[in-house]
Amino acid sequence: TSCVALIVAAGSGERFGGDRPKQYQDLGGRAVLHHTVGAFLRHAYVDAVQVVIQPGHRELYDAAIAGLDLPEPVAGGATRQESVRLGLERLAARDPVPDFVLIHDAARPLVSGATVQAVRDRLDEVPAAIAAVPVTDTLKRGTGGLVSGTVERAGLWRAQTPQGFRFGEILRAHRELAGAELTDDAAVAERAGLDVALVEGNVENLKVTNRDDLAQAAMLMNASIP
Ligand code: C5P
Repeated sequence: TSCVALIVAAGSGERFGGDRPKQYQDLGGRAVLHHTVGAFLRHAYVDAVQVVIQPGHRELYDAAIAGLDLPEPVAGGATRQESVRLGLERLAARDPVPDFVLIHDAARPLVSGATVQAVRDRLDEVPAAIAAVPVTDTLKRGTGGLVSGTVERAGLWRAQTPQGFRFGEILRAHRELAGAELTDDAAVAERAGLDVALVEGNVENLKVTNRDDLAQAAMLMNASIP
């Protein structure tokens, strides 16, 4: 069986600010995207990596992935969901089409090899499996600066990526639900009626959204050097 990683990097990163989108920011001497792509390229379970970018970022992209062997990037869309669908369409044009796809945010450079392996392994039994971590904080609902309620924490998970799928099923789901503006691919799969399994991911697998996240990612990266 074949397994392809689809990495979406077509966001403009408006929340991050600064001179360039977050996936092209420096993290320990290399772009965030370089770390992310590298984690999949060197994984034994992954046969190929396809990246989705904004065409206007072409120069940033070329600099970021220098030295890595990748196919031509796909041009993304206005929303994450659209970027994923366009990436899936490119993979559907491959011969042969992949059996499995692992969809991953470019902005999560600290995904572990064990998380990738766990998500892929689960796909032997279910059509969809996502990395997630159990919620450990107590959750409050806030209204006007005051606590208006406590949310039952039991059974709640924070969804991460990679989110893995049988290729044909997630392609069909994305085609059916184009334009729904869902924020992850599991939501697309859920809407299409697929069973989605939860796989415990690694807590360091944070999504770089703002400067503090980037600083935290740099700290975690250094901490993980033996
Ligand atoms: O904006 P958010 O942090 O949810 O984006 C998650 C991932 O989706 C990022 O890696 C971002 O580059 C990607 N994305 C995309 N196309 C968009 C919006 C976001 O590929 N239109």
